[in-house]
Amino acid sequence: MTTTCFTAAPGVDVITTTAAIPALGSIAINAFVLHGSEPVLVDTGTVAGAPEFMTALESTIDPAALRWIWLTHTDFDHIGSLAALLQANPQLRVITSFLGVGIMGLSSAPLPMDRVHLINPGQSVTVGDRRLTAVRPPVFDNPITTGFLDDRSGILFSSDCFGALLPAVPEDAADLDTDELQAGQVRWTTIDSPWVHRVDRDTFGHSLDQMRAIEPTMVCSSHLPPAPGAMLDLFLESLAMTPAADPFVGPDHAALEAMLAGMAGAPA
Ligand SMILES: [Fe+2]
Ligand SMILES: [Fe+2]
Repeated sequence: MTTTCFTAAPGVDVITTTAAIPALGSIAINAFVLHGSEPVLVDTGTVAGAPEFMTALESTIDPAALRWIWLTHTDFDHIGSLAALLQANPQLRVITSFLGVGIMGLSSAPLPMDRVHLINPGQSVTVGDRRLTAVRPPVFDNPITTGFLDDRSGILFSSDCFGALLPAVPEDAADLDTDELQAGQVRWTTIDSPWVHRVDRDTFGHSLDQMRAIEPTMVCSSHLPPAPGAMLDLFLESLAMTPAADPFVGPDHAALEAMLAGMAGAPA
């Protein structure tokens, strides 16, 4: 995995780790820094890559200057440096859902109740010079999932939604081949949200229309390079394809044994 940091929009930086998944492609694992009078960190990187994440974070902001963490959900690719950041910075508070606090309460680092701000989809929170409105994205892998719209930049932060498995991960989603992007989004969505094959198509279509109506200036997914807002229609088209797409079936034990035997027989 490699971790880098770059600017996605004025005042918005991306800390991105590229992970290669055998046989499936590469995927971005993104966190975001929203600079302002009360700086916000959106998610905190992977558990496995915490040292690299902290180095990249420190290249764009002094972690002591952060005031908020928006925790989109509590998967291992989002909570890597959460406990360390909270411990080091007593002024830092976490915006999450009731369920987010609940599941972290089962971890080795429960969230201090006097340092959380609970939010539900549709509700807003003012963080210094910006107002963030919670959004439930149309697909997700965890019931805690809460994305948001930033009123200052107009950017939609969509958590795992709109992620894509790609041949390679550029800095701008607009540089991707459209067919590869859509195939990668469909594949990712069938893996990350396998329930999508069971949805009522009309109800699902309505949730996609709700996303379209947001008309964001950019889409910042946790698992796709930052994208111009004009690409949202393309992304929603990808999601609309997923209920009828081939369900993902992972390698089984016979496939694992074959792979291990191949590795054992491979030249050193
Ligand atoms: Fe997730
Ligand atoms: Fe994720």
